[in-house]
Amino acid sequence: MKDSSPQTVYLSDYTPFGFVVERVELTFRLAPESTRVTSRIRFAPNPETTDRTFFLHGEELRLVSARIDGAEVTPDVTERGLTCAVPDAAFTWEAEVEIAPAKNTALEGLYMSNGMYCTQCEAEGFRKITYYPDRPDVMASFDVRIESDLPVMLSNGNPGAAGDGFAEWHDPWPKPAYLFALVAGELEARSDTFTTRSGTPVDLNLWVRPGDLPKTEWGLEALKKSMRWDEEVYGREYDLDVFNIVAVDDFNMGAMENKGLNIFNSSAVLASPDTSTDANFERIEAIIAHEYFHNWTGNRITCRDWFQLCLKEGLTVFRDSQFTADMRSAPVKRIGDVIDLRARQFPEDQGPLSHPVRPDSFQEINNFYTATVYEKGAEVIGMLKRLVGDDDYAKALDLYFERHDGQACTIEDWLTVFEDATGRDLSQFKRWYTQSGTPRLSVEERYEGSDYTLTFRQHTPTTPGQDEKAPQVLPIAVGLLSPNGDEVVPTTLLEMTEAEQSFTFPNMASRPVPSLLRGFSAPVVLEREASAEQRAFLLAHDTDPFCRWEAGRGLARAALMASVTEGAAPDVAYLDGLRQVVADPALDPAFRALMLQMPTQSELAQALAEAGTTPDPDAIFAAQEALMRAMAERWQDLLPDLAEQARVTQPYAPDAAQSGKRALGAAVLSLQTRLDGGTAARAQFDSADNMTLRLSALGCLVRADAADDALAAFEAAWSHDRLVMDKWFGIQIMLAPPAKAADRAAELTGHPAFEMTNPNRFRAVMGALASNHAGFHRADGAGYDLLAHWLGKLDAKNPQTAARMATAFQTWRRYDADRRARMQTALRTLRDRPGLSGDMSEMVGRLLG
Ligand code: PHE
Ligand code: ZN
Repeated sequence: MKDSSPQTVYLSDYTPFGFVVERVELTFRLAPESTRVTSRIRFAPNPETTDRTFFLHGEELRLVSARIDGAEVTPDVTERGLTCAVPDAAFTWEAEVEIAPAKNTALEGLYMSNGMYCTQCEAEGFRKITYYPDRPDVMASFDVRIESDLPVMLSNGNPGAAGDGFAEWHDPWPKPAYLFALVAGELEARSDTFTTRSGTPVDLNLWVRPGDLPKTEWGLEALKKSMRWDEEVYGREYDLDVFNIVAVDDFNMGAMENKGLNIFNSSAVLASPDTSTDANFERIEAIIAHEYFHNWTGNRITCRDWFQLCLKEGLTVFRDSQFTADMRSAPVKRIGDVIDLRARQFPEDQGPLSHPVRPDSFQEINNFYTATVYEKGAEVIGMLKRLVGDDDYAKALDLYFERHDGQACTIEDWLTVFEDATGRDLSQFKRWYTQSGTPRLSVEERYEGSDYTLTFRQHTPTTPGQDEKAPQVLPIAVGLLSPNGDEVVPTTLLEMTEAEQSFTFPNMASRPVPSLLRGFSAPVVLEREASAEQRAFLLAHDTDPFCRWEAGRGLARAALMASVTEGAAPDVAYLDGLRQVVADPALDPAFRALMLQMPTQSELAQALAEAGTTPDPDAIFAAQEALMRAMAERWQDLLPDLAEQARVTQPYAPDAAQSGKRALGAAVLSLQTRLDGGTAARAQFDSADNMTLRLSALGCLVRADAADDALAAFEAAWSHDRLVMDKWFGIQIMLAPPAKAADRAAELTGHPAFEMTNPNRFRAVMGALASNHAGFHRADGAGYDLLAHWLGKLDAKNPQTAARMATAFQTWRRYDADRRARMQTALRTLRDRPGLSGDMSEMVGRLLG
């Protein structure tokens, strides 16, 4: 195994590499079992340091020969790389290595997917291709030659000479090795051109396996929209003659921003109305944008070291959220992002895996591609923008691109740009990058004379390795409503910097109702004892869509918690208040669909644990079902009308308007299924002419435990389509009745189409199990044992994906003693597996604490 003795790397240990790389030439002679890679690299002493240790990373390589300035040398080779005596002045290093892409199941470095060659080098995969200083602060221009008899051979940059059996590529932009990419195979492209703002034409190609061409239109359109948007909003133009995107079936993540040659998980780029849902279309548009935006935020300006990962990821997620908000509905996007943050980042930040947005140590960087680095990293940028304002944000970004183009940077560089552009002192704000944990914010109101005062207190619970927490800068957006529902104070930004701080609004004629944390202006937990009346009032009157939604969510959460802890019947006052909003035809159907979405079971488990009640997954499930049933019964008269409002009469389009209607329709169908046991769902399933309607109907049937026929029909119709079959595998586990989920997952691992080495398929089964809260937490521990068993098996083949999925256990300490013990045992059994990877051993070690 690669990391038999995992080492911890510290941010504080950073030192520059002793050499600069002036030029890289690579030649690949492709063969599945024995690819030859020759490298010719020009090194010169780095004037910024006197350390001349010549260490090149290299793993799982067979070194055939090495030369310095033409003379054969014999380096010292270990499992992790090589060292060699080198001249005092500039020199040329040449090496030839052999690798076996067909045997690479880790999907890092050069590997094969369905007969095509492809690479994944971020973060540290290039060292599995050849010996190199595989660190992001070493930037160089690359010339690549590929030799094979495959028709399509691609690499970064602009195309050079090509002929029978070879193709050459030249990338003029210096880049770190993690942005290197190579693809070769029998591929076909959908092509287009884009003319940049300054008039330069760019060839665009989206490469796929033959047969997938009909699924490429949406991705290419999304690419053009992204290119235009980055010019218009950030003033950033594309900088090569060609932009290639390739879809591959076996990929650990969503996609990768390699310079000029983005490589995508096919699930993150291929779409058609018949095979993809509205949510798929939106996600694809966002990921295409994300990877494209990396060309400036990530590639032209990159990270000095992997501790700075949020420099590119937080900013690029923030940019892709802005893009989606512009393409679709800004409030709907914001609410969706908050749901996602709470579902994925909050549990991480409040459990054993909590780490700062900029971590200060790690064993395996693969384990830090997290919701904290990405999504909290984006929230931090959103706060910065709120604090400095839109104009100063734009100024700071211009300065960032101007000052740091071509460099490998740090969070300090980033913050200094903002300080210089705005004159602000950001030293306290920097804690958002260095302090882990979710701040808790409580608030007290006082109304005296005509002064209305809000007193806030902030406090961040301790997290692993951080016992002391200092106050953070919290931008708190507040509006005030008068008792008749008028907004008397429009959105105002309060800047909280102390542990406790008061803000007074004078001259208030009557006691106002506060609308707090508008737009979710800071990623905190607002601990607020708002009364049901106040929440109902905000649900009816708030002008801020986020806070309005939040009021409804708060009411739902309170009702569900009361039903779990006190056996309370579903709260009819809440149902009637919600009905007013949901039935209002003036409101965006997408927003109304969000209002109908219940808090997740996992969110309720967290809320109960915080309130001092050990969460019982079965009771949570039952409470949620009871509330949905009560809603369905109480709204019986309304449902047909809502279904009618949700009906789309035009031909299918995955735009915001139609998607919103279908989302509302899906919520209504799920209520309807509680009444009719699945008749309406089955009718929709049979008549659907797009995947969104078909899959939402199938989900309702699975939930109602009435899906056997529909599942069989779906499988018969779609067994030829891998991405659609991932949906089939996933939905029947994700929405299965809790008692059946683990058994169904176990059974599906025996299905002929279950392939553990395909990450999408593995996630479709095991990820779906983990997301069925009560099913995963079945009292007898079947869910835990099954997941741990398969994570162990996968770890031997693909440590990165296996370790990432172990995060399903991160909330284990919340539950009762019996479940806790079962999860602990499952994790220990996994930890003790012989040959466990470094990725997994770090992960399980942190989970067990
Ligand atoms: N850098 C990629 C992205 O965010 C994610 C990724 C990381 C892909 C590591 C593969 C491996 O856009
Ligand atoms: Zn990214």
